[in-house]
Amino acid sequence: MNIINRLVVGNWKMNGDLNTNLNLLTQLKNGAKTNNTKMVVCPPFVYLEQVKAVLGGSGIAYGAQNVSENENGAFTGEISAKMLGDINCTYCIIGHSERRTIYKECDFMVANKTAKLLAVNITPILCVGETLAERDAGKTNEVVLKQLKAVVDFVGIAKFTKIVVAYEPVWAIGTGKTATPEMAEAVHKTLREFLISQNPEVGNTVPLLYGGSVKGDNAKSLFAMPNINGGLIGGAALKAEDFLAIVNA
Ligand code: PGA
Repeated sequence: MNIINRLVVGNWKMNGDLNTNLNLLTQLKNGAKTNNTKMVVCPPFVYLEQVKAVLGGSGIAYGAQNVSENENGAFTGEISAKMLGDINCTYCIIGHSERRTIYKECDFMVANKTAKLLAVNITPILCVGETLAERDAGKTNEVVLKQLKAVVDFVGIAKFTKIVVAYEPVWAIGTGKTATPEMAEAVHKTLREFLISQNPEVGNTVPLLYGGSVKGDNAKSLFAMPNINGGLIGGAALKAEDFLAIVNA
């Protein structure tokens, strides 16, 4: 039996300020239990220093929400993987559906970002997911496998010992509509089988997170599924009580 690390990641998106963050982080620190679930928070870039200072020694990890696909140079407004390494980020979300839709990030960009993060030893949290129209057209598996395969082809399956994959159906993000545990598990199983087909040893150990309106009251049944190894949490990551309830589920 392979041990898969359990992970609950909070994606703060473009929310927070110094005071609110300090409150939230202090509560998370005080509420963190030593169990086998790793807690990760992903604030906006400008608050990473604050998060690093407040969380020091707590065992809670932190990461960014995006990274440049370029290494350095004339890319106004961008942040490189090496810069994230400088402030000791250990994770970075990439390919979130909001990045793919609003900022037109394609599979190739996401694959490049993955490589840049791996080069500086930061764990990419690679998001994949289908829109409602794609689900209704019966294309869910095709869409998520295409998104995943683009990265496998670019960095190689061996690198997936250092990658986390998050399945986030676009129609479930911030809408209050969650995939049922069975719906989510079906997609996770497809992702797992694909990874195993590329390399059984690696494929069996990649943490597969579910994201999309996860709350304290639905987390337990989702996390009970064999191929759901944790969650990527948006809205509920902004309140300590809600986030801790999910972590403890
Ligand atoms: P949500 O967001 O939990 O608010 O649905 C999840 C995400 O976008 O990662």
